[in-house]
Amino acid sequence: MPKKQRHILVTSALPYANGSIHLGHLVEYIQTDIWVRFMKMQGHLCTYVCADDAHGTPIMLNARKLGITPEQLIANTDKEHRADFAEFNIDFNNFYSTHSDENRELAELIYKRNLDNGYIDRKEVEQFFDEKEDMFLPDRFIKGDCPKCKAPDQYGDNCEVCGATYDATELKNPYSVISGEKPVLKPSEHYFFKLSKAQPMLEKWTQSGALQSGIAKKVTEWFKDGLKDWDISRDAPYFGFEIPCAPKKYFYVWFDAPIGYMASFKNLCAKRDDLDFDAYWNEGSDYEVYHFIGKDIVNHHTLFWPAMLEAAQFRKPTAVNVHGYLTVNGTKMSKSRGTFIKARTYLEQLNPEYLRYYYAAKLSNCVEDLDLNLEDFAARVNSDLVGKVVNIASRCAGFIKKKYAGKLSTTCTEQALYDDFVKAGSSIAELYEQREFSTAIRQIMALADQANQYIDAQKPWVIVKEEGNEQLVQDVCSVGLNLFRVLVCYLKPVIPTLTEQSEAFLNIDAMHWQSINAPLLDHTINKFKPLMTRIEKDKVDAMVAASTEHLSANAEKEEKSVTTEKPGHDSNSEKIADEIEFDDFAKIDLRIVKIIKAEHVEGADKLLQLTLDLGDQTKNVFAGIKSAYQPEDLEGKLTVMVANLKPRKMRFGISEGMVLAAGPGGKDLWILSPDDGAQPGMKVK
Ligand code: 2FM
Ligand code: ZN
Repeated sequence: MPKKQRHILVTSALPYANGSIHLGHLVEYIQTDIWVRFMKMQGHLCTYVCADDAHGTPIMLNARKLGITPEQLIANTDKEHRADFAEFNIDFNNFYSTHSDENRELAELIYKRNLDNGYIDRKEVEQFFDEKEDMFLPDRFIKGDCPKCKAPDQYGDNCEVCGATYDATELKNPYSVISGEKPVLKPSEHYFFKLSKAQPMLEKWTQSGALQSGIAKKVTEWFKDGLKDWDISRDAPYFGFEIPCAPKKYFYVWFDAPIGYMASFKNLCAKRDDLDFDAYWNEGSDYEVYHFIGKDIVNHHTLFWPAMLEAAQFRKPTAVNVHGYLTVNGTKMSKSRGTFIKARTYLEQLNPEYLRYYYAAKLSNCVEDLDLNLEDFAARVNSDLVGKVVNIASRCAGFIKKKYAGKLSTTCTEQALYDDFVKAGSSIAELYEQREFSTAIRQIMALADQANQYIDAQKPWVIVKEEGNEQLVQDVCSVGLNLFRVLVCYLKPVIPTLTEQSEAFLNIDAMHWQSINAPLLDHTINKFKPLMTRIEKDKVDAMVAASTEHLSANAEKEEKSVTTEKPGHDSNSEKIADEIEFDDFAKIDLRIVKIIKAEHVEGADKLLQLTLDLGDQTKNVFAGIKSAYQPEDLEGKLTVMVANLKPRKMRFGISEGMVLAAGPGGKDLWILSPDDGAQPGMKVK
């Protein structure tokens, strides 16, 4: 019986119309696109929409800097984003902009309903104001000395040196990033969304199965102290939508951004007869809505957005699917190391399907970070796609074409093997649906191994030389090509271009998930053309070289500062730091210590908690070495620590020093291990 057709609307987070798409963004677009393509192959009516996120202060100021209007800036970015997405085969049904009539109308409607339902409040707030620029300053446009550790040049929301979070008004010696002037505090009336009123609903909805379990748990922590009301207005000058009946007050970009999902869909509905906006968005709809997002914007999608929808009598999302960040070669993407790679720079050197495959091979439905290790990337693609999958076709196609005029056998001589391949499809389908792509890929590659073993055992290139084997050679190669067809069908959501070329070569219609239930028999194929070439190392190197920027000392400091808990992570590309006086060095108390306990830190991606024995005392230290060590490998080891570093309050507790480590980062990070004879507490000289 055919399965019931589902109506599914899918979104990826809207990229800011203020910068280029890079490989970090692409984790999400590729993940979503694979899922959508899979759902379409299942015969569901699955619609994928996105848009540029076009509002806000940074876009306004960036346009000003470029001497163009914000509208021109967003039009330029729209063009660039569309081209990048198209080449990566991100097949949006609609790509739109939040600066659109549909979005304005929907933002006004949602706001009005929120207001009518008692969810909007007005309060006076005091904020920093730049008198020279005649504007209020968002937190990211104010800098000053950290109120906790006194580090200079810290942003208005958090300190990148000590990790403290605070209000901009707490900064010492604040200055405006725009004019350099000292800002003044000025009162202004702001509009707030009463998130507190939505808390009971959110407590229920977030635990209803709409979120991954780790995210659902994390969200409960936010409920503990009660949700704070959310400031949804900004004063002019601002690039966005003016709030109805509130002159010179604008919707904060994050208010109308998620509404952009609806607006893009509405714009599409006007062009398509089979999509009805209300049927998807009205309260009580049994159609499905999924948002794919990164872990940095969970609060917007699991608190603010469902609350706004509820308070406007619209339906809430079916699920919010969260993924982790991208690291490259084990560490944060870095301009100075050439690993902050733009989509365009990649495309200038490499086939986009390589990256789609690699990401698929590493993605699961967990929130863990995904590492693009450039050596592993080349090895994996070359071995799996070129060495295993394409190889099957290239080993069989020539014989069929030359000796049998392109005709496959009339019977399948390995029906049991073929049936096993078909049967595997249900488990692979389940894995795709659950976003367990890496396991799906593993299962597909296990089938590819089986297909290659079959061909290796039959050796068509040997038997073809013996007389009387005409039928056998045709049968073996026909089985090989039929197995290839199944594999390509299973990989279709991941590598659509290779699939399309394979469909042309096999002379078949575009495949859906059931197309491979029966083998192709007595069927004529077309000439085989190489489907994919190997990744060449020099192309990868050229991409990295083209991405390498020589940053100013300040920019480099800023780029590195986010990973302050990762000693030594940057040493490969690091210049020798500024000279210091001997007296400065003498102040550092380096000690041999024994790691007596090493533990994982719940909720921390990079840290291990170490208990260090200094001979006469123990110290607690959080060290950013999780990528390189398992806790059990560390216990009992001697290492070196900075023992007189002032204790620092971190998100997970107080860190009372630092252990020394060296290496470029990721797995290649080594704590310093002194020779035998060293004792805990000894001074390092
Ligand atoms: O974080 C970002 O890049 C935002 N532009 C994402 C917006 S997603 C949605 F809510 F619009
Ligand atoms: Zn600080």
